[in-house]
Amino acid sequence: MEVKVIAGDIVNVKAGAIIVNFFEGMEQLDGDIAAVDKALDGAISQLISQNEIKGKLNEITLIHSLGKLPADRVIVSGLGKRQELSMNKVRGAVAETCRWLRQRGVYNIATVAQGAGVNGISLENAAQTVTEGAILGLYSFRRHMTKKDDEPVEIKQIIIAGNEEAKPLLEQGSTRGRILAEAVNLARDMVNEPSNYMTPTHMAEIAVKLAESYGLEVSVLDQDQMAELGMGALLGVARGSRQPPKFIILNYKGTDSAEIDIALVGKGITFDSGGISIKPSEGMGEMKGDMAGGAAVMAAISAIAQLKPEINVTAIIPATENMPDGNALKPGDILTAMNGKTIEIISTDAEGRLILADALSYAGKIGARSIIDVATLTGACMVALGRVCTGGLGNDQKLMDKVIAAGADAGELIWQLPMYDEFNEQLKSNVADIKNSGSRYGGTITGAKFLAEFVNNTPWVHLDIAGTSESEKERNYLIKGATGVPVRTLVSLILFLAK
Ligand code: BES
Ligand code: MN
Ligand code: ZN
Repeated sequence: MEVKVIAGDIVNVKAGAIIVNFFEGMEQLDGDIAAVDKALDGAISQLISQNEIKGKLNEITLIHSLGKLPADRVIVSGLGKRQELSMNKVRGAVAETCRWLRQRGVYNIATVAQGAGVNGISLENAAQTVTEGAILGLYSFRRHMTKKDDEPVEIKQIIIAGNEEAKPLLEQGSTRGRILAEAVNLARDMVNEPSNYMTPTHMAEIAVKLAESYGLEVSVLDQDQMAELGMGALLGVARGSRQPPKFIILNYKGTDSAEIDIALVGKGITFDSGGISIKPSEGMGEMKGDMAGGAAVMAAISAIAQLKPEINVTAIIPATENMPDGNALKPGDILTAMNGKTIEIISTDAEGRLILADALSYAGKIGARSIIDVATLTGACMVALGRVCTGGLGNDQKLMDKVIAAGADAGELIWQLPMYDEFNEQLKSNVADIKNSGSRYGGTITGAKFLAEFVNNTPWVHLDIAGTSESEKERNYLIKGATGVPVRTLVSLILFLAK
């Protein structure tokens, strides 16, 4: 889908539908909606006075223009109370209206820079948000459906209309919105793809393609190279699978310095059966999405490569399946990680932290100045924070605050959990340096405490996306299935750090 910015008034745009906004409690129509109302001989003001249009957030009112306007239809889209408007609300409302129109076969849509000038939302940010809302909200995953006739019409183009002076700003914002939203949809595609397609090898192929498309440097380490580096924890998890593991590294260079400013590490378990500590069969299929962290960091660095900030970023994705097998890792086994620490395996289902242990050590070894890891690490995080917030834990409050702020910007909520030393108690082993799981209580924190053993003093934030990587239903700009969280947070953070 293309998003095109044009100079001109929305009243004069020929389209299947034009979308204008109304705020709850708005006394007087002004700007675009006033012009459209006038062209419609006051139809909008009449519906408002009859209380049919209230302006509640996500309210949609359809008015047929019956030849009074070049556009066939007018949609009055409610944005709630003006003083409570945020970019994220606009994103959601645009997504809902676009889906509503698609369902009715309207595929030619035009709108304005929704929200611009309200609560400090700039023209550029408004265009970015409208573009994101449309592309994110219209996402679908139909790749494996052979029946094409029930497919919704595809919306080919959305027009954003603004005045001549605004056009360059709107274009900049819209381009950024498209890059961000398409990166999110790439991550969603990877996560929605079942594990018989999305193998570690396929993840590596995608990384190579992204590198070619956007000028990133890529390397993919195979099993022998991992063994040479001493990645015993990752190889321990990979042992039960017929699929060869891959250790994927993508580099973005935005400065002349050789220093890596930030490493993005993403869990790439392409299927988590639990291994010998096998999971219950009900819902096991959802564990095809256990590479959501890996997908997110790959998508984020590909967006970064297009936006070209002055900063150096490396994405690191340890990718493997976690399977039971005659050769699989067993409870009681002891592994030696890349940093030399020994790990007693209590549960082979606590595999994410094992592969991340080696990936974090690797990030340290290549000298990354700061590290963010993203992982569907613990069911406990979903218990604690639901599907609403990502769990944030780390060793550096300054970096944490920036990550949380970037999340708020993107509308991807992050809630910080504590890292008190008392939690280390749970990970003490009688036979090795550390065990890979503690008790049932505080599982997200002990997961992060385990990871901290492989980080040293580098500023580091761990994002547990077990709850937020998938949505159970369609909700504003989210579709049932993969959400693509936290791609936009990561990109927004890196753009901020580069300033
Ligand atoms: N991939 C799972 C965590 C998960 C659960 C993600 C549900 C998304 C939805 C992870 O590998 C896992 O199995 N974690 C265990 C850890 C435990 C054995 C310490 C868990 O959460 O039960
Ligand atoms: Mn697991
Ligand atoms: Zn897992």
